Amino acid sequence: MDHAHPIKKMAKLGLNQLQRFQVELEQGLGIIDYPVPPNSSMRKTSSRSIRHYYISGIQTVMPIVTCALHQGIALNERIRILDFGCGVARQLLHFTRRYPNPAYYACDVDETSIAFVQKAYPQVEAYVNAFHPPLKYLDASFDLIYSVSIFSHLNREDQKSWLAELARVVKPGGYCFLTTEGMAAMGHLTSTFGMEEAACARKLAEQGILYKEYDFLHDSIKNQNTFKVASLLVGIEGSYGNTVVAPEYIRSEWTNADFEVVQIIEGIIDYRQDLVILRRKR
Ligand SMILES: C[S@@+](CC[C@H](N)C(=O)[O-])C[C@H]1O[C@@H](n2cnc3c(N)ncnc32)[C@H](O)[C@@H]1O
Repeated sequence: MDHAHPIKKMAKLGLNQLQRFQVELEQGLGIIDYPVPPNSSMRKTSSRSIRHYYISGIQTVMPIVTCALHQGIALNERIRILDFGCGVARQLLHFTRRYPNPAYYACDVDETSIAFVQKAYPQVEAYVNAFHPPLKYLDASFDLIYSVSIFSHLNREDQKSWLAELARVVKPGGYCFLTTEGMAAMGHLTSTFGMEEAACARKLAEQGILYKEYDFLHDSIKNQNTFKVASLLVGIEGSYGNTVVAPEYIRSEWTNADFEVVQIIEGIIDYRQDLVILRRKR
């Protein structure tokens, strides 16, 4: 049954109810002491369970925080931080708890995710952005932007236009931490690209970037208004899929008049994604 089928979505709504019951019970008993999104929202932004949501959040945030501190970013001060493509706050949960002093901003194209973030995190200014740039922010608004698992879904052109937009809204000397998929993720993507891992690796070495649009993209977009909270790809208005990029490609294509590539650390994000550290030139 396809992802957009109403019966499948109704089943997801049932799971949401079950999870809400579990969460209310465990919050009442003090076992869970943080906001938990609806099950369907967690699943579409990559977490299979509450436990995975919490732990994978830590595993994605820890390298970003460690590298940010290493770059001298003052996470204990009232700097301005943007979570671009925040989903249901898998990273914001840990950032806002461990570093409460910064002013947090968040955006995502999925209105159901943003509704959760606005309710659960009133201290974060969150809004629904359009699938294509621009963002609503003024030039040079942020000291730090991070974005987990967004560039791993965008095609070459959208990556370029979002890079230019993030460069616009980050301050001169400010940082942009983006996650991408490269060789560390390749084992998970052989069926996506229809090739053995070695063949994928060869093609990546030749081309620098591999992109495969989701097969279910158009059905999902068409049916996104039926049981919206249980729909995949809400707010996606263009091509979207799996993207793998090689570090050499990033170094040659993402270094431009605005950004310098400070470092690329392969496989450090949740054992699968690479962390790309960009700094806006002054
Ligand atoms: C795999 S999820 C990751 C969410 C969150 N960063 C996390 O790691 O849990 C990708 C997110 O990017 C959002 N997204 C996709 N295209 C976007 C765009 N052009 N602008 C903002 N958000 C976008 C999706 O709605 C989705 O919430």
